[in-house]
Amino acid sequence: MSSITPETVLKPRPKTGILDIEPYVGGKSKVEGVAEPLKLSSNENILGSSPLAIAAFEQTAHKLQLYPDGKAPMVREAVATKYGLEADRLIFGCGSDEIFTLLAQTYCEPGDNVVQGQYGFLAYRIAGRGAQAEVRFAPMPNLRFDVDHALALVDDRTRIVFLDNPGNPTGGWLNRDEIERLHDSLPKGCILLLDGAYAEFVDDPAYSDGIDLARRAENIVVTRTFSKIHGLAALRVGWAYAPAEMVSAMERIRAPFNVNLPAQFAAVAALGDEDFQKRSRELVWQWRPWLTQQIGGLGLEVMPSQGNFVLVGFPHEGERTAKAAEEFLAGRGILVRGLVNYGLPDHLRLTIGLEAHNRAVVDALAAFVSG
Ligand SMILES: Cc1ncc(COP(=O)(O)O)c(C=O)c1O
Repeated sequence: MSSITPETVLKPRPKTGILDIEPYVGGKSKVEGVAEPLKLSSNENILGSSPLAIAAFEQTAHKLQLYPDGKAPMVREAVATKYGLEADRLIFGCGSDEIFTLLAQTYCEPGDNVVQGQYGFLAYRIAGRGAQAEVRFAPMPNLRFDVDHALALVDDRTRIVFLDNPGNPTGGWLNRDEIERLHDSLPKGCILLLDGAYAEFVDDPAYSDGIDLARRAENIVVTRTFSKIHGLAALRVGWAYAPAEMVSAMERIRAPFNVNLPAQFAAVAALGDEDFQKRSRELVWQWRPWLTQQIGGLGLEVMPSQGNFVLVGFPHEGERTAKAAEEFLAGRGILVRGLVNYGLPDHLRLTIGLEAHNRAVVDALAAFVSG
C-alpha cells in the first residue's frame, strides 16, 4: 500500500515539533535616526578583535579558493597546548552554538528529554527541540540555576543537562562544588554540558570551568568560544572538550567544512594574543563592579554577574518598566537586550563597555529613573 497521502503530495512538511520552535533573535543593532548606535545588546567584545587575529585573517585573503581541513588541525593543536588537553578529545564548531546542535542530534531521539535552567541560554532549547527531544526547564529561584530543581527533572530518558556557567542572560554562576554535586547525581548515561562562553571573565576563585572535572569523566562536555574574550564572533569558532568516544560520534554528522579557513587562522593567532585577552578581561573586571554599584545606586536591581554583561531589573508596573527603559536608552543611541523571549520581561541585559560607554549608560539610566 502506498504511504503517499494527500497532505504529503501537496507540500513538504517539517518534522513534528519544528514549527513550535521560536527562531533565535539576536540583539538589536539598529535604531532609527542614529547612524552609529552604541551596541551593548549582544555581549560582543567592546575592544574589537585581537590585532594579531585581524592580521592572520587578512593573510588568508588569497586562500579563499581552498576548502578548509574540517578537523581544524592548527586550532586543535593550539587549544590542546594552551589548556593541556588531549587533541583527539576536541571538536570544533561554527560557533559553540553548532556544538549544542551536534550534541543533541547525536544523542537525542523522540521520547528523550533535555534539561536546562528556566532562564538558560536560548540555543539549548532550539538544539533539543530540533532533535525532537522534550525540553524541561528547571526553575531558577532568584534567577540562579538550582542543582536540586534540575536533578528533580532528570529521568532515565534525560540525555543532556545544559548549564551555561556563567549564565546568559543572568550572569549567575555555580561554583566547583555545586557542579561536582550535579555531576555526581546524574545517571552515567546523561551528558552534562558545561558551557563556559564567558569563563574568561570570571573572577570568583570558587568557580570552575569544568575542564578538570571533564578530564576524568565519561559524560561531561565542556564548550568554549572564540566569540567573547577573543572578539571573533563574526568568524564563528567554538570548541568542545569531550570523551574521545563522544567526539568520534559527533564527528560523523559534523558538516565537513564547518569552520572556515580565515576563522581557523584568526583563532590560532587570537589564542596566542595574551595581551588582548588580558585587556578584554581587565576592562570587564574594572567596570563590572562599578556598573553594578552605580546602577544599583539608582534603585534598580542588578544581578551579581561573572560575564561581560550585567542584568538589570526594573519595576513590573508604572512608567519605569524595562520596555520603557529599553526605548529610552535607544532614544539616546544605546542598544541593550530586552529579554521578553527569555521569560524576563522586567529585565534588560547590557554588555559592559568602555569607560565612556558605561558612564553614558549610567547617566541615561539616571535620567530615566528620575523622569
Ligand atoms: C552562554 C552562551 N553560550 C554560547 C554562546 C554562543 O557562542 P558562539 O558565538 O560560539 O556560538 C553564547 C553567545 O552569546 C552564550 O551567551
